[in-house]
Amino acid sequence: MPVATTRTIALQGAIGHLIDIQVDVSPGMVTTIMVGRPDAALSEARDRCRMAISNSGFQWPTTRRTTILLSPADLPKRGTHFDLAIAVGVLAASVDRDRDLPIPTTDAVFIGELTLEGQLRPVPGVLPMVMAAASRGVRRVFVPEPQAAEAALVPGMAVFGMRSLAQVVAELRGVEVPEAPPVPADSGSRLLSWRGQHRIEEGDMADLVGIPDALYAAEVAAAGGHHMLLTGPKGAGKTSLAERIPGILPDLDPEEALELTAIHSLAGALPPEGGLFRRPPYFAPHHNASATSLLGGGTGRVRPGEISRAHAGVLFLDEFPLFSIDVVEALRQPLESGEVTIARGEESATFPARGMVVLAANPCPCGDAGDDAALSHCNCEPPAMRRYQRKLRGPLADRVDIERRLSSADGWQNGDELAPRETTAAVRERVTAARQRQAQRYAGLSWRLNAHAPAQALRESWPLGADSQARLDTEVRQGRLTRRGATRVHRLAWTITDLAGRAAPADRDLDVALALRRGDPLPLRALERAG
Ligand SMILES: Nc1ncnc2c1ncn2[C@@H]1O[C@H](COP(=O)(O)OP(=O)(O)O)[C@@H](O)[C@H]1O
Ligand SMILES: [Mg+2]
Ligand SMILES: [Zn+2]
Repeated sequence: MPVATTRTIALQGAIGHLIDIQVDVSPGMVTTIMVGRPDAALSEARDRCRMAISNSGFQWPTTRRTTILLSPADLPKRGTHFDLAIAVGVLAASVDRDRDLPIPTTDAVFIGELTLEGQLRPVPGVLPMVMAAASRGVRRVFVPEPQAAEAALVPGMAVFGMRSLAQVVAELRGVEVPEAPPVPADSGSRLLSWRGQHRIEEGDMADLVGIPDALYAAEVAAAGGHHMLLTGPKGAGKTSLAERIPGILPDLDPEEALELTAIHSLAGALPPEGGLFRRPPYFAPHHNASATSLLGGGTGRVRPGEISRAHAGVLFLDEFPLFSIDVVEALRQPLESGEVTIARGEESATFPARGMVVLAANPCPCGDAGDDAALSHCNCEPPAMRRYQRKLRGPLADRVDIERRLSSADGWQNGDELAPRETTAAVRERVTAARQRQAQRYAGLSWRLNAHAPAQALRESWPLGADSQARLDTEVRQGRLTRRGATRVHRLAWTITDLAGRAAPADRDLDVALALRRGDPLPLRALERAG
Protein backbone atom coordinates (compact mmCIF):
# COMPACT_ATOMS: atom_id res chain seq x y z
CA MET A 1 0.00 0.00 0.00
CA PRO A 2 1.81 3.17 -1.16
CA VAL A 3 2.23 5.61 1.69
CA ALA A 4 4.45 8.68 1.73
CA THR A 5 5.32 11.04 4.56
CA THR A 6 6.29 14.67 4.15
CA ARG A 7 6.76 17.33 6.79
CA THR A 8 5.99 20.99 7.26
CA ILE A 9 5.59 23.41 10.18
CA ALA A 10 2.44 24.78 11.83
CA LEU A 11 2.83 28.12 13.58
CA GLN A 12 1.15 29.10 16.82
CA GLY A 13 2.19 32.68 17.29
CA ALA A 14 5.96 32.65 17.04
CA ILE A 15 6.25 28.98 17.95
CA GLY A 16 6.49 26.37 15.22
CA HIS A 17 5.48 22.72 15.47
CA LEU A 18 6.59 19.96 13.15
CA ILE A 19 3.65 18.49 11.24
CA ASP A 20 3.74 15.07 9.60
CA ILE A 21 1.65 14.67 6.48
CA GLN A 22 0.96 11.06 5.62
CA VAL A 23 -0.57 10.36 2.25
CA ASP A 24 -2.10 7.04 1.47
CA VAL A 25 -3.22 6.16 -2.04
CA SER A 26 -5.06 2.86 -2.23
CA PRO A 27 -7.69 1.09 -4.27
CA GLY A 28 -11.21 2.04 -3.37
CA MET A 29 -13.77 4.69 -3.96
CA VAL A 30 -12.34 7.72 -5.76
CA THR A 31 -12.24 10.37 -3.08
CA THR A 32 -9.82 12.58 -1.26
CA ILE A 33 -10.16 13.06 2.45
CA MET A 34 -8.08 15.19 4.75
CA VAL A 35 -7.92 14.43 8.47
CA GLY A 36 -6.37 16.27 11.41
CA ARG A 37 -7.97 19.66 12.16
CA PRO A 38 -7.36 21.46 8.87
CA ASP A 39 -8.82 24.99 8.81
CA ALA A 40 -10.85 26.32 5.88
CA ALA A 41 -7.81 27.65 4.03
CA LEU A 42 -6.18 24.27 4.37
CA SER A 43 -9.19 22.50 2.93
CA GLU A 44 -8.80 24.69 -0.13
CA ALA A 45 -5.23 23.41 -0.30
CA ARG A 46 -6.54 20.13 -1.66
CA ASP A 47 -8.07 21.90 -4.66
CA ARG A 48 -5.02 24.06 -5.23
CA CYS A 49 -2.76 21.01 -5.04
CA ARG A 50 -4.91 19.06 -7.48
CA MET A 51 -4.71 21.84 -10.07
CA ALA A 52 -1.03 22.52 -9.41
CA ILE A 53 -0.20 18.84 -9.85
CA SER A 54 -2.02 18.49 -13.17
CA ASN A 55 -0.63 21.78 -14.46
CA SER A 56 2.90 20.67 -13.57
CA GLY A 57 2.71 17.67 -15.89
CA PHE A 58 1.95 15.12 -13.16
CA GLN A 59 -1.16 13.11 -12.41
CA TRP A 60 -3.42 13.44 -9.41
CA PRO A 61 -4.52 9.91 -8.47
CA THR A 62 -7.95 10.02 -10.08
CA THR A 63 -8.72 6.34 -9.95
CA ARG A 64 -7.96 5.66 -6.32
CA ARG A 65 -8.78 6.73 -2.83
CA THR A 66 -6.42 9.35 -1.39
CA THR A 67 -6.19 9.92 2.35
CA ILE A 68 -4.18 12.82 3.70
CA LEU A 69 -3.47 12.61 7.40
CA LEU A 70 -2.07 15.61 9.25
CA SER A 71 -0.57 14.94 12.66
CA PRO A 72 -0.39 15.64 15.54
CA ALA A 73 -4.14 15.83 15.04
CA ASP A 74 -4.88 18.13 17.96
CA LEU A 75 -2.74 21.03 16.75
CA PRO A 76 -4.67 23.67 14.84
CA LYS A 77 -3.24 24.02 11.35
CA ARG A 78 -3.78 27.18 9.40
CA GLY A 79 -2.20 28.86 6.45
CA THR A 80 -1.54 28.20 2.81
CA HIS A 81 2.05 27.06 3.22
CA PHE A 82 0.99 23.40 3.67
CA ASP A 83 0.41 23.15 -0.11
CA LEU A 84 3.91 22.12 -1.06
CA ALA A 85 4.18 19.36 1.55
CA ILE A 86 0.74 18.01 0.61
CA ALA A 87 1.41 18.04 -3.14
CA VAL A 88 4.81 16.41 -2.77
CA GLY A 89 3.28 13.81 -0.45
CA VAL A 90 0.52 12.96 -2.92
CA LEU A 91 3.03 12.63 -5.77
CA ALA A 92 5.40 10.51 -3.69
CA ALA A 93 2.58 8.20 -2.64
CA SER A 94 1.29 7.73 -6.18
CA VAL A 95 4.65 6.85 -7.75
CA ASP A 96 4.32 3.79 -9.96
CA ARG A 97 7.37 1.73 -8.99
CA ASP A 98 7.57 -0.03 -12.33
CA ARG A 99 7.60 3.17 -14.31
CA ASP A 100 8.69 6.20 -12.24
CA LEU A 101 11.69 7.28 -10.26
CA PRO A 102 10.91 7.36 -6.52
CA ILE A 103 10.51 10.73 -4.77
CA PRO A 104 12.44 10.47 -1.48
CA THR A 105 11.01 12.93 1.01
CA THR A 106 12.68 11.99 4.27
CA ASP A 107 14.70 14.54 6.32
CA ALA A 108 13.20 17.53 4.55
CA VAL A 109 10.63 20.14 5.50
CA PHE A 110 8.49 21.72 2.78
CA ILE A 111 7.12 25.26 2.99
CA GLY A 112 5.20 27.17 0.34
CA GLU A 113 1.88 27.99 -1.25
CA LEU A 114 1.13 26.67 -4.74
CA THR A 115 -0.56 28.60 -7.50
CA LEU A 116 -2.96 26.72 -9.76
CA GLU A 117 -0.17 26.70 -12.36
CA GLY A 118 2.17 24.92 -9.97
CA GLN A 119 4.35 27.89 -9.06
CA LEU A 120 5.64 28.24 -5.53
CA ARG A 121 4.53 31.45 -3.80
CA PRO A 122 6.07 33.16 -0.75
CA VAL A 123 4.33 32.88 2.62
CA PRO A 124 4.76 34.85 5.86
CA GLY A 125 6.69 33.38 8.78
CA VAL A 126 9.32 31.38 6.92
CA LEU A 127 12.08 32.25 9.39
CA PRO A 128 10.30 31.06 12.55
CA MET A 129 9.21 27.93 10.66
CA VAL A 130 12.77 27.12 9.64
CA MET A 131 13.99 27.89 13.18
CA ALA A 132 11.45 25.37 14.50
CA ALA A 133 12.54 22.80 11.93
CA ALA A 134 16.18 23.28 12.93
CA SER A 135 15.39 22.84 16.60
CA ARG A 136 13.83 19.48 15.77
CA GLY A 137 16.96 18.32 13.99
CA VAL A 138 15.78 18.92 10.41
CA ARG A 139 18.67 19.85 8.12
CA ARG A 140 16.99 20.35 4.72
CA VAL A 141 14.23 22.75 3.84
CA PHE A 142 12.43 23.60 0.59
CA VAL A 143 11.06 27.15 0.41
CA PRO A 144 9.85 29.58 -2.27
CA GLU A 145 12.85 31.06 -4.02
CA PRO A 146 12.35 34.68 -2.87
CA GLN A 147 12.55 33.43 0.72
CA ALA A 148 15.69 31.34 0.44
CA ALA A 149 17.83 34.09 1.96
CA GLU A 150 15.47 34.42 4.91
CA ALA A 151 15.55 30.65 5.53
CA ALA A 152 19.34 30.64 5.24
CA LEU A 153 19.60 32.91 8.29
CA VAL A 154 19.22 29.75 10.35
CA PRO A 155 22.71 28.29 10.83
CA GLY A 156 23.43 24.79 9.53
CA MET A 157 20.35 24.50 7.33
CA ALA A 158 20.58 23.37 3.70
CA VAL A 159 18.06 25.60 1.94
CA PHE A 160 16.52 24.84 -1.45
CA GLY A 161 14.91 27.95 -2.93
CA MET A 162 12.51 26.74 -5.62
CA ARG A 163 10.16 28.31 -8.15
CA SER A 164 7.72 25.49 -8.82
CA LEU A 165 6.42 22.12 -7.74
CA ALA A 166 8.10 20.53 -10.79
CA GLN A 167 11.46 21.93 -9.67
CA VAL A 168 11.01 20.52 -6.15
CA VAL A 169 10.14 17.06 -7.47
CA ALA A 170 13.13 17.07 -9.85
CA GLU A 171 15.46 18.12 -7.04
CA LEU A 172 14.17 15.32 -4.79
CA ARG A 173 14.59 12.75 -7.58
CA GLY A 174 18.06 13.98 -8.32
CA VAL A 175 17.34 14.72 -11.96
CA GLU A 176 17.89 17.92 -13.90
CA VAL A 177 15.78 20.77 -12.50
CA PRO A 178 13.47 22.25 -15.19
CA GLU A 179 13.32 25.96 -15.97
CA ALA A 180 10.53 27.99 -14.39
CA PRO A 181 9.69 31.70 -14.48
CA PRO A 182 10.78 33.64 -11.38
CA VAL A 183 8.15 34.23 -8.70
CA PRO A 184 7.60 37.79 -7.52
CA ALA A 185 8.39 38.45 -3.86
CA ASP A 186 5.40 38.96 -1.60
CA SER A 187 3.98 42.46 -1.64
CA GLY A 188 2.90 42.13 2.00
CA SER A 189 5.99 43.76 3.38
CA ARG A 190 5.36 46.89 1.34
CA LEU A 191 1.78 47.24 2.53
CA LEU A 192 2.81 47.55 6.15
CA SER A 193 4.74 50.62 7.13
CA TRP A 194 8.18 49.74 8.28
CA ARG A 195 10.08 52.06 10.55
CA GLY A 196 13.08 51.70 12.78
CA GLN A 197 16.76 51.17 12.04
CA HIS A 198 17.31 54.49 10.32
CA ARG A 199 15.71 56.92 12.72
CA ILE A 200 17.86 55.80 15.59
CA GLU A 201 21.12 57.04 14.15
CA GLU A 202 19.65 60.51 13.71
CA GLY A 203 20.32 62.38 16.91
CA ASP A 204 23.17 62.07 19.39
CA MET A 205 22.92 62.23 23.17
CA ALA A 206 25.47 65.04 23.00
CA ASP A 207 22.77 67.28 21.46
CA LEU A 208 20.91 67.44 24.75
CA VAL A 209 21.84 70.13 27.27
CA GLY A 210 20.97 70.78 30.88
CA ILE A 211 19.24 67.48 31.72
CA PRO A 212 21.96 65.30 33.28
CA ASP A 213 19.61 63.41 35.58
CA ALA A 214 17.30 62.44 32.71
CA LEU A 215 20.31 61.27 30.71
CA TYR A 216 21.47 59.17 33.64
CA ALA A 217 17.97 57.70 34.04
CA ALA A 218 17.91 56.76 30.35
CA GLU A 219 21.30 55.13 30.73
CA VAL A 220 20.08 53.03 33.65
CA ALA A 221 16.92 52.10 31.74
CA ALA A 222 18.96 51.00 28.72
CA ALA A 223 21.51 49.09 30.81
CA GLY A 224 18.95 47.00 32.68
CA GLY A 225 16.11 46.92 30.13
CA HIS A 226 13.81 48.91 32.42
CA HIS A 227 10.62 50.65 31.34
CA MET A 228 10.60 54.42 31.82
CA LEU A 229 8.05 57.20 32.11
CA LEU A 230 8.99 60.73 31.07
CA THR A 231 6.73 63.58 32.10
CA GLY A 232 7.00 67.28 31.46
CA PRO A 233 5.46 70.08 29.43
CA LYS A 234 5.65 70.41 25.66
CA GLY A 235 9.13 71.15 24.45
CA ALA A 236 10.82 69.73 27.54
CA GLY A 237 12.75 67.18 25.48
CA LYS A 238 10.77 63.96 26.11
CA THR A 239 10.67 62.91 22.47
CA SER A 240 14.24 64.01 21.85
CA LEU A 241 15.48 61.83 24.69
CA ALA A 242 13.35 58.78 23.83
CA GLU A 243 14.52 58.79 20.22
CA ARG A 244 18.11 58.64 21.33
CA ILE A 245 17.74 55.61 23.59
CA PRO A 246 18.08 52.91 20.89
CA GLY A 247 21.44 54.45 20.04
CA ILE A 248 22.86 53.69 23.48
CA LEU A 249 21.85 50.03 23.28
CA PRO A 250 24.49 47.53 22.14
CA ASP A 251 24.10 45.59 18.89
CA LEU A 252 21.70 42.66 19.16
CA ASP A 253 23.31 39.38 20.13
CA PRO A 254 22.81 36.54 17.63
CA GLU A 255 19.91 35.04 19.56
CA GLU A 256 18.03 38.36 19.82
CA ALA A 257 18.73 39.09 16.16
CA LEU A 258 17.14 35.81 15.10
CA GLU A 259 14.15 36.28 17.46
CA LEU A 260 13.51 39.79 16.21
CA THR A 261 13.87 38.88 12.54
CA ALA A 262 11.48 35.95 13.08
CA ILE A 263 8.88 38.30 14.58
CA HIS A 264 9.18 40.62 11.60
CA SER A 265 8.90 37.64 9.27
CA LEU A 266 5.57 36.79 10.94
CA ALA A 267 4.47 40.40 10.62
CA GLY A 268 5.25 40.23 6.90
CA ALA A 269 7.64 43.11 7.38
CA LEU A 270 11.24 42.04 6.92
CA PRO A 271 13.80 44.74 6.26
CA PRO A 272 13.76 45.39 2.50
CA GLU A 273 17.51 44.86 2.29
CA GLY A 274 17.18 41.38 3.78
CA GLY A 275 19.37 39.68 6.35
CA LEU A 276 19.14 39.72 10.12
CA PHE A 277 18.40 42.78 12.19
CA ARG A 278 21.63 43.92 13.84
CA ARG A 279 20.48 47.01 15.70
CA PRO A 280 17.69 47.28 18.28
CA PRO A 281 14.43 48.44 16.71
CA TYR A 282 12.58 51.65 17.58
CA PHE A 283 8.84 51.99 17.19
CA ALA A 284 6.80 55.06 18.02
CA PRO A 285 3.15 54.37 17.18
CA HIS A 286 0.70 57.26 17.23
CA HIS A 287 -1.88 57.40 20.02
CA ASN A 288 -4.61 56.65 17.48
CA ALA A 289 -3.07 53.20 16.97
CA SER A 290 -5.50 50.32 17.44
CA ALA A 291 -4.99 47.59 20.00
CA THR A 292 -4.50 45.19 17.09
CA SER A 293 -1.69 47.12 15.46
CA LEU A 294 -0.01 47.69 18.80
CA LEU A 295 -0.42 44.33 20.47
CA GLY A 296 -1.09 41.99 17.57
CA GLY A 297 -4.03 40.09 16.13
CA GLY A 298 -5.97 40.82 13.00
CA THR A 299 -8.47 38.91 10.92
CA GLY A 300 -7.29 35.62 9.49
CA ARG A 301 -3.70 35.00 10.46
CA VAL A 302 -2.63 36.43 13.82
CA ARG A 303 0.14 38.97 13.30
CA PRO A 304 2.49 40.31 15.96
CA GLY A 305 1.97 43.97 16.86
CA GLU A 306 4.41 46.83 17.27
CA ILE A 307 5.19 45.91 20.86
CA SER A 308 6.59 42.62 19.54
CA ARG A 309 8.27 44.24 16.59
CA ALA A 310 10.08 46.42 19.14
CA HIS A 311 11.37 43.26 20.87
CA ALA A 312 14.93 43.82 22.16
CA GLY A 313 14.57 47.49 21.29
CA VAL A 314 12.44 50.46 22.28
CA LEU A 315 8.70 51.04 22.04
CA PHE A 316 7.96 54.73 22.56
CA LEU A 317 4.40 55.67 23.44
CA ASP A 318 4.33 59.45 23.22
CA GLU A 319 1.46 61.15 25.08
CA PHE A 320 0.41 57.76 26.36
CA PRO A 321 -2.65 59.00 28.32
CA LEU A 322 -4.20 59.74 24.92
CA PHE A 323 -4.04 56.07 23.85
CA SER A 324 -7.39 54.31 23.98
CA ILE A 325 -8.27 52.72 27.28
CA ASP A 326 -8.28 49.19 25.87
CA VAL A 327 -4.75 49.68 24.59
CA VAL A 328 -3.59 50.96 27.97
CA GLU A 329 -5.28 48.03 29.72
CA ALA A 330 -3.89 45.49 27.28
CA LEU A 331 -0.35 46.80 27.72
CA ARG A 332 -0.23 45.63 31.31
CA GLN A 333 0.47 42.00 30.52
CA PRO A 334 3.38 42.52 28.10
CA LEU A 335 4.94 45.16 30.33
CA GLU A 336 4.93 42.69 33.18
CA SER A 337 5.76 39.42 31.44
CA GLY A 338 7.69 40.33 28.29
CA GLU A 339 5.27 38.52 26.01
CA VAL A 340 1.88 39.12 24.44
CA THR A 341 -0.81 36.48 24.29
CA ILE A 342 -3.58 36.97 21.77
CA ALA A 343 -6.60 34.81 22.41
CA ARG A 344 -8.95 33.98 19.63
CA GLY A 345 -11.71 31.45 20.18
CA GLU A 346 -10.11 28.35 21.58
CA GLU A 347 -6.73 29.21 20.14
CA SER A 348 -4.10 31.57 21.37
CA ALA A 349 -0.87 32.87 19.97
CA THR A 350 2.05 34.13 22.01
CA PHE A 351 4.71 36.49 20.74
CA PRO A 352 7.79 37.77 22.57
CA ALA A 353 7.69 41.45 23.56
CA ARG A 354 10.77 42.11 25.63
CA GLY A 355 11.63 45.59 24.57
CA MET A 356 11.94 48.62 26.80
CA VAL A 357 8.77 50.64 26.86
CA VAL A 358 9.24 54.38 27.18
CA LEU A 359 6.09 56.30 28.03
CA ALA A 360 5.84 60.06 27.70
CA ALA A 361 3.13 62.28 29.08
CA ASN A 362 2.43 65.97 29.09
CA PRO A 363 1.13 67.34 32.38
CA CYS A 364 -2.33 67.89 30.84
CA PRO A 365 -4.17 67.17 27.56
CA CYS A 366 -3.11 70.45 25.91
CA GLY A 367 0.45 70.07 27.13
CA ASP A 368 0.84 73.67 28.22
CA ALA A 369 0.47 73.35 31.95
CA GLY A 370 3.88 74.61 33.02
CA ASP A 371 5.87 74.30 36.22
CA ASP A 372 4.68 77.74 37.23
CA ALA A 373 0.88 78.06 37.29
CA ALA A 374 1.06 81.84 36.79
CA LEU A 375 2.92 81.46 33.49
CA SER A 376 0.89 78.50 32.31
CA HIS A 377 -1.14 78.84 29.10
CA CYS A 378 -3.15 75.73 29.93
CA ASN A 379 -6.86 75.98 29.25
CA CYS A 380 -7.86 72.37 29.89
CA GLU A 381 -11.25 71.78 31.53
CA PRO A 382 -11.03 70.20 34.98
CA PRO A 383 -12.94 67.00 34.06
CA ALA A 384 -10.65 66.36 31.08
CA MET A 385 -7.73 67.06 33.39
CA ARG A 386 -8.93 64.49 35.91
CA ARG A 387 -9.49 61.79 33.29
CA TYR A 388 -6.00 62.45 32.01
CA GLN A 389 -4.43 62.24 35.45
CA ARG A 390 -6.26 59.00 36.18
CA LYS A 391 -4.78 57.36 33.12
CA LEU A 392 -1.37 58.81 33.88
CA ARG A 393 -1.38 57.41 37.41
CA GLY A 394 -3.14 54.17 36.46
CA PRO A 395 -1.89 50.59 36.59
CA LEU A 396 0.52 51.10 33.73
CA ALA A 397 2.59 53.55 35.75
CA ASP A 398 3.07 50.95 38.50
CA ARG A 399 4.68 48.66 35.91
CA VAL A 400 7.27 51.24 34.99
CA ASP A 401 10.57 51.13 36.84
CA ILE A 402 11.84 54.64 36.28
CA GLU A 403 10.07 57.95 36.30
CA ARG A 404 11.67 61.22 35.28
CA ARG A 405 10.18 64.66 35.16
CA LEU A 406 11.67 67.04 32.64
CA SER A 407 11.17 70.71 33.36
CA SER A 408 9.92 73.18 30.77
CA ALA A 409 12.01 74.32 27.86
CA ASP A 410 13.38 77.33 29.78
CA GLY A 411 14.80 74.76 32.21
CA TRP A 412 17.16 73.11 29.77
CA GLN A 413 17.77 76.35 27.88
CA ASN A 414 19.53 77.65 30.98
CA GLY A 415 21.86 74.66 30.86
CA ASP A 416 25.51 75.21 30.18
CA GLU A 417 25.86 74.82 26.40
CA LEU A 418 29.61 74.66 26.68
CA ALA A 419 29.83 72.02 29.38
CA PRO A 420 31.36 68.83 27.99
CA ARG A 421 28.64 66.39 26.94
CA GLU A 422 28.85 62.71 26.32
CA THR A 423 28.21 61.20 22.94
CA THR A 424 25.83 58.32 22.29
CA ALA A 425 28.86 56.13 21.52
CA ALA A 426 30.43 56.81 24.93
CA VAL A 427 27.24 56.01 26.82
CA ARG A 428 26.73 52.88 24.72
CA GLU A 429 30.09 51.56 25.90
CA ARG A 430 29.04 51.71 29.54
CA VAL A 431 25.62 50.23 28.77
CA THR A 432 27.29 47.39 26.88
CA ALA A 433 29.64 46.67 29.76
CA ALA A 434 26.76 46.68 32.26
CA ARG A 435 24.81 44.28 30.07
CA GLN A 436 27.82 41.97 29.85
CA ARG A 437 27.97 41.81 33.65
CA GLN A 438 24.30 40.84 33.73
CA ALA A 439 24.81 38.21 31.03
CA GLN A 440 27.57 36.64 33.12
CA ARG A 441 25.56 36.74 36.31
CA TYR A 442 22.49 35.21 34.69
CA ALA A 443 24.35 32.78 32.40
CA GLY A 444 22.29 29.67 31.68
CA LEU A 445 19.06 31.24 32.97
CA SER A 446 16.03 32.24 30.95
CA TRP A 447 16.57 35.99 31.28
CA ARG A 448 19.47 38.27 30.41
CA LEU A 449 18.65 41.61 32.01
CA ASN A 450 17.93 42.83 35.53
CA ALA A 451 14.51 44.10 34.48
CA HIS A 452 13.47 40.54 33.67
CA ALA A 453 14.89 38.80 36.74
CA PRO A 454 12.07 37.10 38.69
CA ALA A 455 11.41 38.54 42.14
CA GLN A 456 12.06 35.27 43.96
CA ALA A 457 15.34 34.59 42.17
CA LEU A 458 16.52 38.08 43.09
CA ARG A 459 15.67 37.67 46.75
CA GLU A 460 17.27 34.25 47.00
CA SER A 461 20.34 34.52 44.84
CA TRP A 462 21.08 38.23 44.49
CA PRO A 463 19.76 39.86 47.67
CA LEU A 464 20.32 43.42 48.77
CA GLY A 465 22.37 44.12 51.88
CA ALA A 466 20.51 43.68 55.18
CA ASP A 467 20.18 47.44 55.79
CA SER A 468 18.91 48.09 52.28
CA GLN A 469 16.39 45.28 52.49
CA ALA A 470 15.15 46.54 55.86
CA ARG A 471 14.65 49.99 54.38
CA LEU A 472 12.72 48.61 51.44
CA ASP A 473 10.53 46.55 53.78
CA THR A 474 9.75 49.68 55.78
CA GLU A 475 8.79 51.57 52.64
CA VAL A 476 6.36 48.80 51.75
CA ARG A 477 4.96 48.50 55.28
CA GLN A 478 4.35 52.21 55.50
CA GLY A 479 2.59 52.22 52.13
CA ARG A 480 5.10 54.34 50.24
CA LEU A 481 5.93 51.51 47.87
CA THR A 482 3.95 48.56 46.52
CA ARG A 483 5.40 45.03 46.64
CA ARG A 484 5.76 45.19 42.90
CA GLY A 485 7.45 48.54 43.32
CA ALA A 486 9.94 47.09 45.81
CA THR A 487 10.97 44.39 43.35
CA ARG A 488 11.46 47.05 40.70
CA VAL A 489 13.67 49.06 43.05
CA HIS A 490 15.69 45.92 43.80
CA ARG A 491 16.28 45.36 40.07
CA LEU A 492 17.23 49.00 39.59
CA ALA A 493 19.74 48.80 42.42
CA TRP A 494 21.49 45.99 40.54
CA THR A 495 21.56 47.93 37.29
CA ILE A 496 23.06 50.95 39.04
CA THR A 497 25.67 48.62 40.52
CA ASP A 498 26.39 47.04 37.15
CA LEU A 499 26.84 50.44 35.51
CA ALA A 500 29.28 51.44 38.21
CA GLY A 501 31.13 48.15 37.81
CA ARG A 502 30.77 47.11 41.43
CA ALA A 503 30.20 43.59 42.73
CA ALA A 504 26.99 44.04 44.74
CA PRO A 505 24.52 46.84 45.47
CA ALA A 506 25.59 49.21 48.24
CA ASP A 507 23.17 51.21 50.37
CA ARG A 508 23.75 54.32 48.27
CA ASP A 509 22.69 52.38 45.17
CA LEU A 510 19.35 51.87 46.87
CA ASP A 511 19.02 55.66 47.39
CA VAL A 512 19.46 56.20 43.68
CA ALA A 513 17.12 53.33 42.80
CA LEU A 514 14.38 54.72 45.04
CA ALA A 515 14.76 58.18 43.56
CA LEU A 516 14.57 56.82 40.01
CA ARG A 517 11.48 54.81 40.83
CA ARG A 518 9.68 57.74 42.45
CA GLY A 519 10.74 60.46 40.10
CA ASP A 520 12.54 62.28 42.91
CA PRO A 521 15.65 64.39 42.25
CA LEU A 522 18.72 62.18 42.09
CA PRO A 523 21.31 62.26 44.83
CA LEU A 524 24.12 64.25 43.27
CA ARG A 525 26.72 61.52 43.57
CA ALA A 526 24.70 59.38 41.17
CA LEU A 527 25.72 61.73 38.42
CA GLU A 528 29.43 61.59 39.24
CA ARG A 529 30.87 59.07 36.87
CA ALA A 530 32.82 56.17 38.28
CA GLY A 531 35.74 56.55 35.92
N1 LIG B 1 17.64 69.20 26.74
C1 LIG B 1 17.60 69.67 25.49
N2 LIG B 1 18.73 70.07 24.89
C2 LIG B 1 18.71 70.55 23.63
N3 LIG B 1 17.60 70.64 22.87
C3 LIG B 1 16.43 70.24 23.42
C4 LIG B 1 16.38 69.74 24.74
N4 LIG B 1 15.09 69.43 25.01
C5 LIG B 1 14.39 69.72 23.91
N5 LIG B 1 15.18 70.22 22.95
C6 LIG B 1 14.75 70.67 21.62
O1 LIG B 1 13.45 71.23 21.75
C7 LIG B 1 12.57 70.77 20.75
C8 LIG B 1 11.33 70.12 21.36
O2 LIG B 1 11.73 68.97 22.10
P1 LIG B 1 10.87 67.64 22.18
O3 LIG B 1 11.81 66.55 22.48
O4 LIG B 1 10.03 67.49 20.98
O5 LIG B 1 9.96 67.94 23.45
P2 LIG B 1 8.71 67.15 23.98
O6 LIG B 1 8.69 65.83 23.34
O7 LIG B 1 8.90 67.07 25.46
O8 LIG B 1 7.53 67.99 23.64
C9 LIG B 1 13.36 69.83 19.90
O9 LIG B 1 13.72 70.47 18.71
C10 LIG B 1 14.59 69.49 20.69
O10 LIG B 1 15.71 69.37 19.87
MG1 LIG C 1 7.12 65.07 22.19
ZN1 LIG D 1 -3.69 71.94 29.45
